[in-house]
Amino acid sequence: MLDGKRILLIIAGGIAAYKALDLIRRLREGGAEVRCILTRSGEQFVTPLAVSALSGDKVYRDLFSLTDEAEMGHIRLARDPDMIVVAPATADLMARMRVGRSDDLAAAVLLATDKPVLLAPAMNHRMWLHPATRNNLAVLESRGVLRVGPDSGDMACGEHGVGRMAEPAAIVAVVTARLAGSGRLAGRRALVTSGPTIEAIDPVRFIANRSSGKQGHAVAAALAHLGARVTLVSGPVDLDDPPGVAAIHVDSAEQMLAACRAALPVDVAVCAAAVADWRIANRADQKIKKGDDGPPSLDLVANPDILATLSRPGPGRPILVVGFAAETSDLIENARVKRDRKGCDWIVANDVSPASGTFGGDHNKVVLISNDAPSEWPRMDKRAVAERLAERIADALEAAS
Ligand code: C5P
Repeated sequence: MLDGKRILLIIAGGIAAYKALDLIRRLREGGAEVRCILTRSGEQFVTPLAVSALSGDKVYRDLFSLTDEAEMGHIRLARDPDMIVVAPATADLMARMRVGRSDDLAAAVLLATDKPVLLAPAMNHRMWLHPATRNNLAVLESRGVLRVGPDSGDMACGEHGVGRMAEPAAIVAVVTARLAGSGRLAGRRALVTSGPTIEAIDPVRFIANRSSGKQGHAVAAALAHLGARVTLVSGPVDLDDPPGVAAIHVDSAEQMLAACRAALPVDVAVCAAAVADWRIANRADQKIKKGDDGPPSLDLVANPDILATLSRPGPGRPILVVGFAAETSDLIENARVKRDRKGCDWIVANDVSPASGTFGGDHNKVVLISNDAPSEWPRMDKRAVAERLAERIADALEAAS
């Protein structure tokens, strides 16, 4: 269920750290790659050697280690995983997270990450019930941090109450539900294109389409959230890779098509990229000089149509192929014509006339063109459009199977 997922496990200092060893083993049994950070106080309870032997990787311990920083800097540690699990999460580490400290490797990574974070708190029950801890946790949860446990029972310190770390099996269950998704698209594969493509004129100049990638990236995130295994093929954008998605970065339309082909077979393909229609036939290997001859003339050749290529009938065609159509007039009619021409199943048509504010903005107003009557959706933010589209895709795949 966790095949290919990358988990960063932060082991902080508490007697429950011994359970983190079992957690590593179980996550790996589920197919995950596990990389570990051991805090200084964590080292008091489990040894780096045990953690390394079980994770099959080196253990990261020091924010200022020159070798670690050269091989795998703390920013990459924060960005690479699909999810960060803190087990045990101590009262101290949660307090440091709350105020945004970065005074050791664990805290710095937690401050630098944009990936889902799951805490498995473990502490004495009075520490757990202290208003400071309650308050810290409430703030962290309001920021989207996830939590599993703690359980109640006998504690290592001889007292009884709430504060025992959740059992490793329970932690794995939460990780799996979040990453592999017990969602409606669990077991499905999806391909999403996003962003613009850029087509080189010479090594420094290019032509491109206008696209922020926000809608395509949101679609990839929404499909992953429903449990699909998503490959996102994106042109250059100023966005982070969505969590839990395999992102492939490309420049040109030809590279985008090759990356899409390599991602097949999939159940659903959603083409949201603004692919440049043409590339430069007489592309220069050296920067073109501004000389006296006036501006150079550019010969253009048509780029491959990725949506039409993926829509072509035949073995291996995705069950559902969805395209986007950016129109400035006659939205529904133009989108229908486009759907027929490309051979895709659905077109998500959006109005990109300057008055709509769609380009680069956070909102979109779309009409879904399928075999049924056009379905006009209210103006929503791009994430909500993506979530609704992902639910529709799940409906269609369920109906088709
Ligand atoms: O033809 P037009 O660019 O208006 O069509 C838009 C749709 O086609 C989008 O879904 C876009 O991702 C896709 N497309 C493509 N490859 C191209 C051109 C457009 O996949 N070369």
